[in-house]
Amino acid sequence: MIAPSILSADFANLERDVRMLNASDAAWIHVDIMDGVFVPNLSFGLPVTEAIKRHAEKPLDVHLMIVQPERYLEDFKKAGADVLTVHYEASTHLHRSLQQIRALGMKAGVALNPHTPVDLLADVLGDLDLVCLMSVNPGFGGQAFIPQTFKKVERLRRMIDDAGTPTLIEIDGGVGLQNAADLKKAGANVLVAGNAVFKANDPVATIRQLNEA
Ligand code: DX5
Ligand code: ZN
Repeated sequence: MIAPSILSADFANLERDVRMLNASDAAWIHVDIMDGVFVPNLSFGLPVTEAIKRHAEKPLDVHLMIVQPERYLEDFKKAGADVLTVHYEASTHLHRSLQQIRALGMKAGVALNPHTPVDLLADVLGDLDLVCLMSVNPGFGGQAFIPQTFKKVERLRRMIDDAGTPTLIEIDGGVGLQNAADLKKAGANVLVAGNAVFKANDPVATIRQLNEA
């Protein structure tokens, strides 16, 4: 599945860009929320997420790069999130947050920074619908893919297969046609792509190629 990241869209033409994604092979629309504290950048928040939702015909995959994400779970449900991902590093009571996300009727995701080992998820795999492996340090689009991610995907794939859970593996950061096929081979299910899609001459064709890679 391909989840283009709206962070790389033209914010003055969000409706146009969301319609383009509606008409593409994208599975989800990835929505990056940054608070300037957990990550060194600000993106946008609830009103913009709501505006995207008004035009989106695909599920919103909301990635919270914020401290104390538990304060906003219900707000993002109301704003239209279908998948809601919190950061491991920002969650003191991760298990509680995951349960709340599911109780609100969303798929529950956890994101890991590049330095956070996948092994730390062993005791919450059953409470997770998705693990987002950050393949860049979160905060900005257009960064270089960190190759160590491949080992993490393979290790997480083994953990999930051993546990027998249907948890999806998502890769976020520096993903493009140059690594999509290898990431799928390593066991990834969802590929987030920002710049690779929105800076391409033909975003719809690029999404199709990523899908078929
Ligand atoms: C980075 C964000 C990513 C970003 C990916 O902090 O979480 O979702 O939009 O952008 P690219 O694909 O350009 O690296
Ligand atoms: Zn993201």
